[in-house]
Amino acid sequence: MSRAVTMEKVVNLAKRRGFAFQSSEIYGGLASCWDYGPVGIELKRNVKEAWWREMVLTRSDIVGIDCSILMHPRVWEASGHVAGFTDPMVDCKKCKERFRADKLSDARCPERPSKRPGECGGELTEARQFNLMFKTFMGPVEESANVVFMRPETAQGIFVNFLNILNSSRQKVPFGIAQIGKSFRNEITPGNFLFRTREFEQMEMEFFVKPGEDDKWYEYWRERRLQWYQQYGIRSENLRLREHEKDELAHYAKGCVDVEYQFPFGWSELEGIANRTDFDLKRHAEYSGKDISYYNEETKERFVPYVIEPAAGADRATLAFLVDAYDEDEAEGETRAVLRFHPRIAPVKAAVFPLMRKDGQPEKAMEVLALLRRHFPVQYDQAGSIGRRYRRQDEIGTPFGITVDHQTMQDSTVTLRERDTMQQVRLPIDRLVDELKRRIEI
Ligand code: GLY
Repeated sequence: MSRAVTMEKVVNLAKRRGFAFQSSEIYGGLASCWDYGPVGIELKRNVKEAWWREMVLTRSDIVGIDCSILMHPRVWEASGHVAGFTDPMVDCKKCKERFRADKLSDARCPERPSKRPGECGGELTEARQFNLMFKTFMGPVEESANVVFMRPETAQGIFVNFLNILNSSRQKVPFGIAQIGKSFRNEITPGNFLFRTREFEQMEMEFFVKPGEDDKWYEYWRERRLQWYQQYGIRSENLRLREHEKDELAHYAKGCVDVEYQFPFGWSELEGIANRTDFDLKRHAEYSGKDISYYNEETKERFVPYVIEPAAGADRATLAFLVDAYDEDEAEGETRAVLRFHPRIAPVKAAVFPLMRKDGQPEKAMEVLALLRRHFPVQYDQAGSIGRRYRRQDEIGTPFGITVDHQTMQDSTVTLRERDTMQQVRLPIDRLVDELKRRIEI
């Protein structure tokens, strides 16, 4: 991969062109919280839509759900999060900074960044377990009886609705339930822009299978999920699967493999595919007193399904698409940034330009814009030279540029320029929508 890309360049471009801004920036910012700007939100929506299309809309064996963020506190006792969703934390007695005890080799002393915590003269406290769940209070009285948690994973909403989905849909095991939504983790050391944040969006699917068929489905989902990133343009050499060591596994998992992406800060997890066994359904059965099992009418068997869970981070995936698309080239003696997004992922699909601001060209270009806007997110730009306008669009990754020129006024044709090849073809306005659809829906 062209490693012209650095996080600094991506963060600068993201801010300059409206992908993402620091949250509450005018007050000095809130650490690890980011706001998506006008093009960033379109990019993230496209990532989520591509996931939903793959996981729900194109399959008859997976249905969607959208659960509330606040859930009954017993959910988190049953799931094991109250007791076990912790990271070991140490404090530096000198600078008071807190670090993950198991990640000290990745951390830097804030006062002496060339040193690791503890190697800078500051003494570290003994490690203690820190629960990552955010707490709040339900209702007006702030007392312990009213404590509720902000969900740390969307998965539990799916498990506690397993019976509701069985009873209200015609699904039979094997089948899945998918959800996209916000989760919250009070990470000790967030960082790397959109990568590790305390408020984040997950794209999770729980696939319920007959015990004994779980290994087969685990293999299936790990391959399928890796392919999804490739299908939308992430380069294969920047993706890999990494199987978890036994001591890395979450408390519920029999096996887990990460889809990792090679970010400028190193290989890091985009998604985990875990075999959660029957842990969650059995625990909810135990804590709720309900029979959470599945009866197969044909074979007359009753069992508690095993669960294979592909769990992806929407913000991490968005960042990976952004980083992977980042490229630079030379034009007119300047280095320019180009985002080579897959057309499906690109926030804006096409930009319409009048070549000249006269002879009816702007009005004609506005007509073309109105025609396209019914089908795609499009932009109009008439400011500056045509080269500069192309470059502005290249920086936000718009795959197609459409120019209205003198000839358009004679024969109703326009030029269509493709971002990466820079090749132009001339075609009639009334073929534009079909041609763009053909090129986008690859
Ligand atoms: N549900 C798995 C995770 O949140 O990582």
